[in-house]
Amino acid sequence: MKLQGKHIIDASDLSVDELNLIIDLALEMKANTEKFSNLCKGKILATLFYEPSTRTRLSFESAMLRMGGAIIGFSDAETSSVKKGENIADTIRVLNNYAHIIVMRHPREGAPLLASQYSTIPVINGGDGGHQHPTQTLTDLLTIKYYKNDIKDIKIAICGDLLFGRSVHSLLKTLSRYPNTEFVLISPSELRIPYYLKNDIMKKHNVRILETTSLEEYMDYVNVLYMTRIQKERFFSEDEYIKLKGSYVLTPEKLKYARKDLLLMHPLPRVNEIDYEVDKDPRAKYFEQASLGVFARMALMALLLGRDY
Ligand code: NCD
Repeated sequence: MKLQGKHIIDASDLSVDELNLIIDLALEMKANTEKFSNLCKGKILATLFYEPSTRTRLSFESAMLRMGGAIIGFSDAETSSVKKGENIADTIRVLNNYAHIIVMRHPREGAPLLASQYSTIPVINGGDGGHQHPTQTLTDLLTIKYYKNDIKDIKIAICGDLLFGRSVHSLLKTLSRYPNTEFVLISPSELRIPYYLKNDIMKKHNVRILETTSLEEYMDYVNVLYMTRIQKERFFSEDEYIKLKGSYVLTPEKLKYARKDLLLMHPLPRVNEIDYEVDKDPRAKYFEQASLGVFARMALMALLLGRDY
């Protein structure tokens, strides 16, 4: 298995064996972070963020710094030469001489793929429009492995904006390749998963997919509940967003029917879909999930950079 030099654009760019290799290394890095503190000495990460981010950008930066590397980049394209009209291809050609690895977030689907076509150093998709978010999925898998010991027999309810949620798309594509996954997809009818994705998953993998508009219906059945926010920025009209934004709110009352071994996840940011009271529930692990994201990204970058550990 050689990950060195690879671009990570889509969740399916990594095989299950490669995903497991990254997760195992991430767990080792979490257990013994100090041991890896010089692993990426002399390496530079460029973070090119054309869209807002807190966790993805800062966890990538924290990950590189914890491995002894350095970081450059922008978190607002308005302060870069994009403002002057520079295109992605030219930006990437230049960055290839400034850094050893790039993570890019962009509002346009396909922008990181385009970037990878002009890049001789690894490009990682940090989220492209409503399409994919593969490193969120690595974080999610690591969280499942950490709390459930294994990524198999997962009955996962995914609730919220399944149409525009890129974290959801990458997670669906990836978990459907793990043994015995069952999906319960909860959304308003307007925000169901894109047909291409459902078709792709159903055709390629023999997974069970249940669809419902009710958050409560399968609450006592699933062992993972993955809440997501309605993706305001992807809507064509404000009215449409306002109509759907309060569709689901998880409260302690609704959680009463959930299993004791439920793992409650959310990629964050939360808007209003999880009541703050739920944070006290021991099954709520979204902040732990965000912190595991640092180790997932450490492991991924170390392997893409071909570091020996
Ligand atoms: C997600 C994203 O940007 O797609 N956030 C993240 O990276 N943790 C989810 C979201 O914005 O809703």
